[in-house]
Amino acid sequence: ESKKQVTKKSALDTLLEEAEGLIQKNKKDQALYKYEDIIKRFPDSAKVLMAKAKLLDGLAEERRSNDLLDGAILSYRQAADAPNCPRDIHRAALARMADRLSFFGKSAKSIQVYQELVKEHPDDNESKKNLAVQYLIVGKNNRAKHYFEQMLESNPTDGFAQVHLGFILKAEANYLEAIPLLRAGINSGDRETNEGKYFFHLGESYLRIGQVDESYKVYDEGVSRGHFRSRYQRSLYNVDLLRGKEFWTPKGARYADAAKKLESNWETIRDEALALLSSDGLFQKEEEKLQDTGDWKQFTLYAKGNKNQANCQQAPRTCEIIDTIPESRGCRRGQVKFSVMHPGTHVWPHCGPTNCRLRGHLGLVIPQPVRLRVGNITRTWEEGKFFIFDDSFEHEVWQEADRMRVILIVDLWHPDLTESDRNRLTAI
Ligand code: LMR
Ligand code: MN
Repeated sequence: ESKKQVTKKSALDTLLEEAEGLIQKNKKDQALYKYEDIIKRFPDSAKVLMAKAKLLDGLAEERRSNDLLDGAILSYRQAADAPNCPRDIHRAALARMADRLSFFGKSAKSIQVYQELVKEHPDDNESKKNLAVQYLIVGKNNRAKHYFEQMLESNPTDGFAQVHLGFILKAEANYLEAIPLLRAGINSGDRETNEGKYFFHLGESYLRIGQVDESYKVYDEGVSRGHFRSRYQRSLYNVDLLRGKEFWTPKGARYADAAKKLESNWETIRDEALALLSSDGLFQKEEEKLQDTGDWKQFTLYAKGNKNQANCQQAPRTCEIIDTIPESRGCRRGQVKFSVMHPGTHVWPHCGPTNCRLRGHLGLVIPQPVRLRVGNITRTWEEGKFFIFDDSFEHEVWQEADRMRVILIVDLWHPDLTESDRNRLTAI
Protein backbone atom coordinates (compact mmCIF):
# COMPACT_ATOMS: atom_id res chain seq x y z
CA GLU A 1 0.00 0.00 0.00
CA SER A 2 2.65 2.50 1.00
CA LYS A 3 4.74 1.59 -2.04
CA LYS A 4 1.76 2.29 -4.27
CA GLN A 5 1.47 5.76 -2.66
CA VAL A 6 5.05 6.52 -3.51
CA THR A 7 4.76 5.54 -7.18
CA LYS A 8 1.52 7.47 -7.50
CA LYS A 9 3.10 10.53 -5.98
CA SER A 10 5.99 10.61 -8.32
CA ALA A 11 3.73 9.96 -11.28
CA LEU A 12 1.77 13.04 -10.24
CA ASP A 13 4.92 15.13 -9.93
CA THR A 14 6.08 14.05 -13.35
CA LEU A 15 2.75 15.02 -14.87
CA LEU A 16 2.79 18.37 -13.10
CA GLU A 17 6.26 19.05 -14.43
CA GLU A 18 5.10 18.27 -17.94
CA ALA A 19 2.25 20.75 -17.58
CA GLU A 20 4.64 23.39 -16.27
CA GLY A 21 6.88 22.75 -19.26
CA LEU A 22 3.95 23.51 -21.53
CA ILE A 23 3.29 26.77 -19.70
CA GLN A 24 6.92 27.73 -20.06
CA LYS A 25 6.65 27.17 -23.82
CA ASN A 26 3.59 29.38 -23.73
CA LYS A 27 1.33 26.49 -24.69
CA LYS A 28 -1.14 27.42 -22.03
CA ASP A 29 -4.25 25.92 -23.56
CA GLN A 30 -2.48 22.60 -23.87
CA ALA A 31 -1.35 22.91 -20.28
CA LEU A 32 -4.95 23.42 -19.26
CA TYR A 33 -5.99 20.19 -20.98
CA LYS A 34 -3.10 18.48 -19.31
CA TYR A 35 -4.31 19.64 -15.90
CA GLU A 36 -7.81 18.38 -16.69
CA ASP A 37 -6.30 14.97 -17.47
CA ILE A 38 -4.24 14.94 -14.31
CA ILE A 39 -7.31 15.89 -12.25
CA LYS A 40 -9.16 12.88 -13.70
CA ARG A 41 -6.44 10.62 -12.39
CA PHE A 42 -5.80 12.47 -9.12
CA PRO A 43 -9.12 14.17 -8.33
CA ASP A 44 -8.15 14.86 -4.71
CA SER A 45 -4.82 16.56 -5.28
CA ALA A 46 -4.85 20.12 -3.90
CA LYS A 47 -1.58 20.73 -5.68
CA VAL A 48 -2.92 20.15 -9.18
CA LEU A 49 -6.17 21.99 -8.48
CA MET A 50 -4.11 24.94 -7.27
CA ALA A 51 -1.86 24.81 -10.34
CA LYS A 52 -4.90 24.81 -12.60
CA ALA A 53 -6.46 27.73 -10.69
CA LYS A 54 -3.29 29.79 -11.09
CA LEU A 55 -3.13 29.06 -14.79
CA LEU A 56 -6.78 30.09 -15.29
CA ASP A 57 -6.18 33.18 -13.16
CA GLY A 58 -3.26 34.26 -15.37
CA LEU A 59 -5.19 33.53 -18.53
CA ALA A 60 -8.19 35.52 -17.26
CA GLU A 61 -5.92 38.52 -16.82
CA GLU A 62 -4.18 38.05 -20.18
CA ARG A 63 -7.44 37.61 -22.08
CA ARG A 64 -9.58 39.86 -19.91
CA SER A 65 -12.11 37.08 -19.60
CA ASN A 66 -14.70 36.86 -16.87
CA ASP A 67 -15.44 33.22 -17.72
CA LEU A 68 -11.81 32.30 -17.14
CA LEU A 69 -11.82 34.26 -13.90
CA ASP A 70 -14.94 32.39 -12.80
CA GLY A 71 -13.13 29.15 -13.58
CA ALA A 72 -10.11 30.24 -11.58
CA ILE A 73 -12.26 31.12 -8.58
CA LEU A 74 -13.96 27.72 -8.74
CA SER A 75 -10.62 25.95 -8.93
CA TYR A 76 -9.25 27.85 -5.95
CA ARG A 77 -12.35 26.74 -4.05
CA GLN A 78 -11.79 23.12 -5.07
CA ALA A 79 -8.10 23.30 -4.14
CA ALA A 80 -8.92 24.64 -0.67
CA ASP A 81 -11.60 21.98 -0.21
CA ALA A 82 -9.44 19.08 -1.34
CA PRO A 83 -9.04 16.39 1.35
CA ASN A 84 -5.84 16.83 3.34
CA CYS A 85 -5.11 20.11 1.62
CA PRO A 86 -1.75 21.36 2.93
CA ARG A 87 -2.13 24.50 5.05
CA ASP A 88 -0.02 26.72 2.84
CA ILE A 89 -2.03 25.82 -0.24
CA HIS A 90 -5.28 26.21 1.70
CA ARG A 91 -4.29 29.68 2.78
CA ALA A 92 -2.96 30.80 -0.61
CA ALA A 93 -5.99 29.43 -2.49
CA LEU A 94 -8.52 31.18 -0.24
CA ALA A 95 -6.53 34.44 -0.18
CA ARG A 96 -6.32 34.66 -3.94
CA MET A 97 -9.94 33.57 -4.33
CA ALA A 98 -11.14 36.32 -1.98
CA ASP A 99 -8.97 38.86 -3.77
CA ARG A 100 -10.39 37.89 -7.16
CA LEU A 101 -13.96 37.98 -5.86
CA SER A 102 -13.36 41.49 -4.61
CA PHE A 103 -11.81 42.46 -7.96
CA PHE A 104 -14.97 41.11 -9.60
CA GLY A 105 -17.05 43.41 -7.40
CA LYS A 106 -18.47 40.47 -5.46
CA SER A 107 -17.81 41.93 -2.05
CA ALA A 108 -20.30 39.79 -0.11
CA LYS A 109 -18.73 36.56 -1.39
CA SER A 110 -15.26 37.95 -0.88
CA ILE A 111 -16.15 38.70 2.74
CA GLN A 112 -17.30 35.11 3.27
CA VAL A 113 -13.99 33.76 2.03
CA TYR A 114 -11.95 36.20 4.10
CA GLN A 115 -13.98 35.19 7.16
CA GLU A 116 -13.12 31.57 6.47
CA LEU A 117 -9.45 32.51 6.12
CA VAL A 118 -9.37 34.49 9.34
CA LYS A 119 -11.05 31.63 11.15
CA GLU A 120 -8.76 28.90 9.78
CA HIS A 121 -5.56 30.94 9.84
CA PRO A 122 -5.97 33.28 12.82
CA ASP A 123 -2.33 34.37 12.65
CA ASP A 124 -2.79 35.73 9.11
CA ASN A 125 -2.82 39.50 9.57
CA GLU A 126 -3.02 40.23 5.87
CA SER A 127 -6.41 38.49 5.69
CA LYS A 128 -7.74 40.40 8.67
CA LYS A 129 -6.69 43.59 6.93
CA ASN A 130 -8.39 42.59 3.72
CA LEU A 131 -11.54 41.45 5.51
CA ALA A 132 -11.81 44.78 7.30
CA VAL A 133 -11.29 46.71 4.07
CA GLN A 134 -14.04 44.68 2.37
CA TYR A 135 -16.39 45.56 5.23
CA LEU A 136 -15.55 49.22 4.66
CA ILE A 137 -16.26 48.86 0.95
CA VAL A 138 -19.78 47.57 1.66
CA GLY A 139 -20.34 50.24 4.32
CA LYS A 140 -20.30 47.91 7.33
CA ASN A 141 -18.04 50.25 9.26
CA ASN A 142 -18.76 48.66 12.62
CA ARG A 143 -17.58 45.26 11.46
CA ALA A 144 -14.47 46.82 9.96
CA LYS A 145 -13.86 48.71 13.17
CA HIS A 146 -13.84 45.48 15.17
CA TYR A 147 -10.99 44.03 13.08
CA PHE A 148 -8.91 47.21 13.01
CA GLU A 149 -9.22 47.38 16.78
CA GLN A 150 -8.10 43.77 17.02
CA MET A 151 -5.08 44.52 14.84
CA LEU A 152 -4.15 47.45 17.04
CA GLU A 153 -4.46 45.32 20.14
CA SER A 154 -1.85 42.92 18.81
CA ASN A 155 0.25 45.68 17.25
CA PRO A 156 -0.45 49.20 18.56
CA THR A 157 1.81 50.82 15.96
CA ASP A 158 0.19 49.22 12.91
CA GLY A 159 -0.06 52.30 10.68
CA PHE A 160 -2.53 50.72 8.29
CA ALA A 161 -4.94 49.91 11.11
CA GLN A 162 -4.41 53.38 12.63
CA VAL A 163 -5.41 55.36 9.54
CA HIS A 164 -8.37 53.10 8.89
CA LEU A 165 -9.70 53.21 12.43
CA GLY A 166 -9.09 56.98 12.38
CA PHE A 167 -11.10 57.22 9.18
CA ILE A 168 -14.00 55.26 10.72
CA LEU A 169 -14.03 57.36 13.89
CA LYS A 170 -13.97 60.55 11.83
CA ALA A 171 -16.99 59.32 9.88
CA GLU A 172 -18.70 58.89 13.27
CA ALA A 173 -17.85 62.52 14.07
CA ASN A 174 -15.56 61.30 16.85
CA TYR A 175 -12.85 63.78 15.86
CA LEU A 176 -10.99 63.78 19.16
CA GLU A 177 -10.19 60.09 18.85
CA ALA A 178 -9.77 60.19 15.09
CA ILE A 179 -7.05 62.85 15.14
CA PRO A 180 -4.31 61.00 17.08
CA LEU A 181 -4.92 57.81 15.09
CA LEU A 182 -4.74 59.50 11.70
CA ARG A 183 -1.65 61.40 12.83
CA ALA A 184 0.11 58.30 14.15
CA GLY A 185 -0.79 56.34 11.02
CA ILE A 186 0.59 59.04 8.72
CA ASN A 187 3.73 59.30 10.82
CA SER A 188 4.21 55.53 10.88
CA GLY A 189 5.93 55.72 7.50
CA ASP A 190 3.89 52.73 6.38
CA ARG A 191 3.69 53.21 2.61
CA GLU A 192 -0.04 52.51 2.48
CA THR A 193 -0.75 55.39 4.85
CA ASN A 194 0.95 58.06 2.72
CA GLU A 195 -2.20 58.95 0.83
CA GLY A 196 -3.94 62.25 0.20
CA LYS A 197 -7.20 61.03 1.67
CA TYR A 198 -5.73 60.61 5.14
CA PHE A 199 -4.33 64.15 5.12
CA PHE A 200 -7.75 65.25 3.94
CA HIS A 201 -9.53 63.49 6.81
CA LEU A 202 -7.04 64.68 9.41
CA GLY A 203 -7.31 68.30 8.25
CA GLU A 204 -11.08 68.11 8.21
CA SER A 205 -11.15 66.63 11.72
CA TYR A 206 -9.15 69.59 13.04
CA LEU A 207 -11.47 71.99 11.24
CA ARG A 208 -14.56 70.36 12.74
CA ILE A 209 -13.25 70.94 16.26
CA GLY A 210 -12.36 74.54 15.47
CA GLN A 211 -8.58 74.10 15.19
CA VAL A 212 -8.30 75.91 11.88
CA ASP A 213 -4.56 76.61 12.07
CA GLU A 214 -3.82 72.97 12.72
CA SER A 215 -5.92 71.94 9.74
CA TYR A 216 -3.90 74.20 7.41
CA LYS A 217 -0.66 72.79 8.81
CA VAL A 218 -1.89 69.35 7.80
CA TYR A 219 -2.85 70.60 4.33
CA ASP A 220 0.56 72.24 3.88
CA GLU A 221 2.17 68.95 4.83
CA GLY A 222 -0.08 67.27 2.24
CA VAL A 223 1.18 69.76 -0.34
CA SER A 224 4.82 69.06 0.50
CA ARG A 225 4.20 65.32 0.18
CA GLY A 226 2.69 65.89 -3.26
CA HIS A 227 -0.89 64.98 -2.40
CA PHE A 228 -2.44 68.41 -2.91
CA ARG A 229 -1.79 70.95 -5.64
CA SER A 230 -1.80 73.77 -3.10
CA ARG A 231 -3.01 74.67 0.37
CA TYR A 232 -6.42 75.59 -1.05
CA GLN A 233 -6.65 73.29 -4.07
CA ARG A 234 -7.05 69.88 -2.48
CA SER A 235 -8.97 67.77 -4.99
CA LEU A 236 -7.66 64.20 -5.17
CA TYR A 237 -8.50 63.21 -8.77
CA ASN A 238 -6.38 65.53 -10.82
CA VAL A 239 -4.84 65.98 -14.21
CA ASP A 240 -1.46 67.74 -14.18
CA LEU A 241 -0.81 71.01 -15.95
CA LEU A 242 -4.40 72.25 -15.90
CA ARG A 243 -4.49 75.90 -14.99
CA GLY A 244 -5.94 76.36 -11.53
CA LYS A 245 -7.42 79.57 -10.15
CA GLU A 246 -10.36 80.43 -7.93
CA PHE A 247 -12.57 82.29 -10.41
CA TRP A 248 -12.73 82.30 -14.19
CA THR A 249 -14.42 84.79 -16.46
CA PRO A 250 -16.75 83.00 -18.89
CA LYS A 251 -14.67 84.42 -21.76
CA GLY A 252 -11.40 83.28 -20.19
CA ALA A 253 -12.81 79.79 -19.82
CA ARG A 254 -14.11 79.91 -23.42
CA TYR A 255 -17.64 79.53 -22.11
CA ALA A 256 -18.95 82.98 -23.06
CA ASP A 257 -21.62 81.47 -25.34
CA ALA A 258 -22.81 79.09 -22.64
CA ALA A 259 -22.97 81.94 -20.13
CA LYS A 260 -24.98 84.07 -22.55
CA LYS A 261 -27.46 81.26 -23.24
CA LEU A 262 -28.01 80.64 -19.55
CA GLU A 263 -28.30 84.32 -18.64
CA SER A 264 -30.73 85.14 -21.43
CA ASN A 265 -32.97 82.26 -20.37
CA TRP A 266 -32.60 82.65 -16.63
CA GLU A 267 -36.25 83.46 -15.91
CA THR A 268 -37.43 80.34 -17.72
CA ILE A 269 -34.92 78.30 -15.74
CA ARG A 270 -35.94 79.97 -12.49
CA ASP A 271 -39.62 79.28 -13.13
CA GLU A 272 -38.91 75.59 -13.65
CA ALA A 273 -36.96 75.51 -10.40
CA LEU A 274 -39.77 77.27 -8.52
CA ALA A 275 -42.40 74.90 -9.92
CA LEU A 276 -40.32 71.95 -8.72
CA LEU A 277 -39.89 73.55 -5.31
CA SER A 278 -43.63 73.97 -4.92
CA SER A 279 -44.10 70.21 -4.62
CA ASP A 280 -42.68 68.60 -1.53
CA GLY A 281 -39.94 66.01 -1.45
CA LEU A 282 -38.49 66.37 -4.95
CA PHE A 283 -35.24 67.93 -3.80
CA GLN A 284 -32.75 65.73 -1.97
CA LYS A 285 -30.56 66.47 1.00
CA GLU A 286 -26.91 67.07 0.27
CA GLU A 287 -25.27 63.78 1.23
CA GLU A 288 -21.60 64.43 1.81
CA LYS A 289 -21.90 65.82 5.32
CA LEU A 290 -20.64 69.19 4.14
CA GLN A 291 -23.40 71.07 5.86
CA ASP A 292 -22.68 72.56 9.26
CA THR A 293 -26.04 74.19 10.00
CA GLY A 294 -29.25 74.80 8.09
CA ASP A 295 -31.02 73.18 5.17
CA TRP A 296 -29.53 72.64 1.72
CA LYS A 297 -31.11 70.50 -0.98
CA GLN A 298 -30.52 69.66 -4.61
CA PHE A 299 -32.39 68.44 -7.66
CA THR A 300 -30.07 66.69 -10.10
CA LEU A 301 -30.57 66.91 -13.86
CA TYR A 302 -27.27 65.44 -15.10
CA ALA A 303 -24.57 63.48 -13.30
CA LYS A 304 -21.35 61.93 -14.63
CA GLY A 305 -22.38 62.92 -18.15
CA ASN A 306 -25.70 61.06 -17.87
CA LYS A 307 -29.01 62.79 -18.26
CA ASN A 308 -31.51 61.96 -15.52
CA GLN A 309 -34.46 61.49 -17.87
CA ALA A 310 -37.14 61.44 -15.19
CA ASN A 311 -35.88 64.64 -13.56
CA CYS A 312 -35.30 66.36 -16.91
CA GLN A 313 -38.94 65.75 -17.80
CA GLN A 314 -39.74 68.01 -14.88
CA ALA A 315 -37.41 70.75 -16.09
CA PRO A 316 -37.56 70.36 -19.88
CA ARG A 317 -36.61 73.90 -20.90
CA THR A 318 -33.57 73.96 -18.64
CA CYS A 319 -32.38 70.62 -20.00
CA GLU A 320 -33.04 71.75 -23.55
CA ILE A 321 -30.55 74.55 -22.94
CA ILE A 322 -27.99 72.29 -21.25
CA ASP A 323 -28.26 69.87 -24.18
CA THR A 324 -26.86 72.61 -26.41
CA ILE A 325 -23.76 72.93 -24.19
CA PRO A 326 -21.79 69.71 -24.87
CA GLU A 327 -19.02 70.59 -22.39
CA SER A 328 -21.62 70.46 -19.62
CA ARG A 329 -24.03 67.87 -21.02
CA GLY A 330 -21.10 65.48 -21.47
CA CYS A 331 -19.07 66.42 -18.38
CA ARG A 332 -18.46 63.00 -16.86
CA ARG A 333 -16.73 64.60 -13.90
CA GLY A 334 -19.59 66.85 -12.91
CA GLN A 335 -23.28 67.49 -12.53
CA VAL A 336 -26.02 69.92 -13.43
CA LYS A 337 -28.44 70.55 -10.57
CA PHE A 338 -30.70 73.04 -8.90
CA SER A 339 -29.47 73.98 -5.44
CA VAL A 340 -31.75 75.47 -2.82
CA MET A 341 -30.33 76.83 0.40
CA HIS A 342 -32.45 78.02 3.27
CA PRO A 343 -31.66 80.78 5.79
CA GLY A 344 -29.24 79.85 8.54
CA THR A 345 -27.18 77.47 6.40
CA HIS A 346 -23.43 77.28 6.71
CA VAL A 347 -21.50 74.90 4.46
CA TRP A 348 -18.14 73.82 5.83
CA PRO A 349 -15.04 74.72 3.84
CA HIS A 350 -14.54 71.85 1.39
CA CYS A 351 -13.04 70.93 -1.99
CA GLY A 352 -14.60 69.14 -4.93
CA PRO A 353 -13.08 65.81 -5.97
CA THR A 354 -11.35 66.83 -9.20
CA ASN A 355 -9.59 69.70 -11.01
CA CYS A 356 -11.04 68.51 -14.31
CA ARG A 357 -14.19 70.57 -14.14
CA LEU A 358 -15.16 74.17 -13.52
CA ARG A 359 -18.36 74.95 -11.68
CA GLY A 360 -20.80 77.54 -13.01
CA HIS A 361 -23.53 79.07 -10.85
CA LEU A 362 -26.56 80.80 -12.36
CA GLY A 363 -28.33 83.00 -9.80
CA LEU A 364 -32.10 82.34 -9.78
CA VAL A 365 -33.51 83.55 -6.46
CA ILE A 366 -30.96 85.61 -4.54
CA PRO A 367 -31.88 87.31 -1.27
CA GLN A 368 -29.11 88.97 0.77
CA PRO A 369 -26.86 88.43 2.63
CA VAL A 370 -25.52 85.23 1.05
CA ARG A 371 -21.84 84.61 0.39
CA LEU A 372 -19.50 82.16 -1.33
CA ARG A 373 -15.81 82.11 -0.40
CA VAL A 374 -13.39 80.39 -2.77
CA GLY A 375 -9.82 80.40 -1.45
CA ASN A 376 -9.30 84.01 -0.35
CA ILE A 377 -11.98 85.52 -2.54
CA THR A 378 -15.54 86.05 -1.30
CA ARG A 379 -18.44 87.07 -3.48
CA THR A 380 -22.22 86.83 -3.74
CA TRP A 381 -24.70 85.80 -6.43
CA GLU A 382 -26.94 87.97 -8.56
CA GLU A 383 -30.22 86.99 -10.15
CA GLY A 384 -29.80 86.25 -13.84
CA LYS A 385 -25.99 86.31 -13.62
CA PHE A 386 -23.68 83.38 -14.33
CA PHE A 387 -20.21 83.06 -12.82
CA ILE A 388 -17.60 80.33 -12.93
CA PHE A 389 -15.33 79.11 -10.15
CA ASP A 390 -13.05 76.14 -9.67
CA ASP A 391 -14.58 73.99 -6.94
CA SER A 392 -11.37 71.98 -6.51
CA PHE A 393 -10.34 75.01 -4.45
CA GLU A 394 -11.59 75.22 -0.90
CA HIS A 395 -14.97 76.93 -0.77
CA GLU A 396 -17.48 77.81 1.92
CA VAL A 397 -21.02 79.16 1.86
CA TRP A 398 -23.11 81.29 4.24
CA GLN A 399 -26.84 81.83 3.82
CA GLU A 400 -27.91 84.55 6.26
CA ALA A 401 -30.90 85.97 4.40
CA ASP A 402 -34.51 85.61 5.51
CA ARG A 403 -35.75 83.50 2.57
CA MET A 404 -34.41 80.74 0.35
CA ARG A 405 -31.62 81.14 -2.18
CA VAL A 406 -31.91 79.17 -5.46
CA ILE A 407 -29.19 78.64 -8.10
CA LEU A 408 -28.51 76.33 -11.04
CA ILE A 409 -25.15 74.58 -10.75
CA VAL A 410 -23.60 73.86 -14.16
CA ASP A 411 -20.35 71.91 -14.23
CA LEU A 412 -18.20 72.23 -17.36
CA TRP A 413 -15.09 70.41 -18.53
CA HIS A 414 -11.91 72.33 -17.72
CA PRO A 415 -10.99 74.20 -20.91
CA ASP A 416 -7.39 72.93 -20.84
CA LEU A 417 -8.51 69.31 -21.28
CA THR A 418 -8.31 68.04 -24.85
CA GLU A 419 -11.10 66.02 -26.41
CA SER A 420 -9.08 62.83 -25.97
CA ASP A 421 -8.36 63.66 -22.29
CA ARG A 422 -12.10 64.04 -21.77
CA ASN A 423 -12.85 60.71 -23.38
CA ARG A 424 -10.17 58.95 -21.42
CA LEU A 425 -11.03 60.19 -17.94
CA THR A 426 -13.13 58.02 -15.66
CA ALA A 427 -16.44 59.39 -14.46
CA ILE A 428 -16.70 60.98 -11.01
C1 LMR B 1 -20.93 74.20 -3.64
O1 LMR B 1 -20.69 74.03 -4.85
O2 LMR B 1 -20.39 73.56 -2.76
C2 LMR B 1 -21.91 75.23 -3.23
O3 LMR B 1 -21.46 76.45 -3.65
C3 LMR B 1 -23.22 74.91 -3.78
C4 LMR B 1 -24.26 75.90 -3.42
O4 LMR B 1 -25.44 75.54 -3.53
O5 LMR B 1 -23.92 77.02 -3.05
MN1 MN C 1 -18.94 72.37 -3.18
